[in-house]
Amino acid sequence: MRGRIPDSFIDELLARVDIVDVIERRVPLKKAGREWTACCPFHNERSPSFYVSPAKQFFHCFGCGAHGSALKFLMDYERLEFPDAVEELAQSVGLTVPREGGNDQAPREDKTDLYALLDAAARWFENELPKNAEAQAYCRKRGLDEDTIKRFRIGWAPAGFDGVIKALGSNDRRMQLLNEAGMVASNERGHRYDRFRERVMFPILDRRGRVIAFGGRVLSSDQGPKYLNSPETPLFHKGRELFALWQVKQANPSLARIVVVEGYMDVIALHQAGLPIAVATLGTATTPEHTEVLFRAAPDVVFCFDGDRAGRAAAWKALEAALPRIRDGRQAYFLFLPDGEDPDTLIRKEGKDGFEKRLKAATPLSEYFFNELAHDVDTSSLDGRARLAERARPLIAKLPDGAFRDLMAQELEKRTGARAVLEADAGARRPVQRPIVVQRSLVRSAIALLLAQPGIADQVERPYGFLRLEKPGVELLAELIDLARSRPGINPAMLVEHFAERPEYTSLQKLMAAMVVGEPEAQRAEFFGALQRMEQQVITQRREWLTAKSREGTLDSAEKAELRELLAARVPPAAPAD
Ligand code: UTP
Ligand code: MN
Repeated sequence: MRGRIPDSFIDELLARVDIVDVIERRVPLKKAGREWTACCPFHNERSPSFYVSPAKQFFHCFGCGAHGSALKFLMDYERLEFPDAVEELAQSVGLTVPREGGNDQAPREDKTDLYALLDAAARWFENELPKNAEAQAYCRKRGLDEDTIKRFRIGWAPAGFDGVIKALGSNDRRMQLLNEAGMVASNERGHRYDRFRERVMFPILDRRGRVIAFGGRVLSSDQGPKYLNSPETPLFHKGRELFALWQVKQANPSLARIVVVEGYMDVIALHQAGLPIAVATLGTATTPEHTEVLFRAAPDVVFCFDGDRAGRAAAWKALEAALPRIRDGRQAYFLFLPDGEDPDTLIRKEGKDGFEKRLKAATPLSEYFFNELAHDVDTSSLDGRARLAERARPLIAKLPDGAFRDLMAQELEKRTGARAVLEADAGARRPVQRPIVVQRSLVRSAIALLLAQPGIADQVERPYGFLRLEKPGVELLAELIDLARSRPGINPAMLVEHFAERPEYTSLQKLMAAMVVGEPEAQRAEFFGALQRMEQQVITQRREWLTAKSREGTLDSAEKAELRELLAARVPPAAPAD
């Protein structure tokens, strides 16, 4: 049994992590005032109702009601049990999870042992390299210098079936770890042997520089697959990791541009030649997760591919993976290399300057996008232009809202004459309509309207006349207005979250949902209309009360004066009472 995780540790952990960071690693977020927003990852939606508040370290979805802390997000998003989510989160900030009361017989879930083992394996391979003449000759032939070998921790897995096992698998527990780490394979009789044999070893490091996997290259092409990679393990997810991202980060405290190439040796050659800005995916296509990691590393990402068909196909995949991540300020470029060359061979021929020239001349995503889509259509014909528009629209729709998306839509229009009618625009371009607020009381309507657009609170003048109205909800409305005024830019989600611990919470959420959103301008007018009618009701209420009292003959002189004034003012009849 693992011991219990002390509550104090959970507090410490939640104080240490930033929820925006945790979520953004998985779901691209867009800044909205002081909060961040996205389409909710927990239900299907087209416009964002998922909000993340850095101030409250809290997420909330108005569509499906999902909400909670960074920990809760991890549990829901990665489908982790509580202790595993704690482990994962702790690891991401370099904390070790303490345990109370269990015994330590089976600390299996503790990944620190796995990291230690993989590090020991990398060290063992590194030590083997100088012992093998062939491997050394190979490294020389590939032009690897000593510094590069050290920086990338390049090693050698010797021949034989149990080098790693003998060195690192001294007991059952360690054998089990070797297995979990993907370092051993087993035959059909269950006999275990080293996965990597007679290969030049490239350790794959995570973003914190820890060894999480390996790639191994044969010395000559007749020895089975040229590269063998570790399988997916608890530490290694190919779709997420990038080879040499650690080295790139070490070499560049801040980075304007990062280059994605196809192979281990390409990365290494570029680094060695003085361009420590290259990473590679690990024998997989570029995933959206990769592109998010890339854009977080640098605002400009250059995808560099061979000019052959496979390279072009891989580039288009990368483009598709990049589209949803291209927010304003992020740019993607494509660089195709001449036939038969890869970055490794090219930089040796052309040097750092030559390669940099190519990088500078890389094709912007927009250009690559339209050229590729139009390459087999005749845009001088109506049919051709229609086909181009048909192909481009769904892709442009994948771009997040923003200037770049607008530009791409404009470009499509320019090239085809067809407008890229995007869902978000479709909403915004609807004719002005009255907001339909199905609320029985004025107070409730006003709250619903305020929740839809908290910014309008700025224009409400104090003192609030409506506060004298004797109706349920007026204090709540005043409180909401105060809150919204004190926090310019607050969004509806967070406004309501302030009431999370209060009995009003549920009805506030309902009021939010009951709102049929119309044009913001119309909503604003409706809101002030509601406030005005409430103030009229205050007067009506007072006049009725004074009139009743006067029938009983109990008005004092001040009240008599007030009633006279009210009657003389001939306040127009107020809206029907609720
Ligand atoms: P390449 O064959 O283009 O690699 O494969 P390269 O870097 O140019 O290889 P060298 O120069 O001959 O050493 C590109 C990448 O595809 C993956 C590896 O990640 C490799 O770096 N790959 C390739 C595999 O995973 N397995 C293979 O058998 C081949
Ligand atoms: Mn190569």
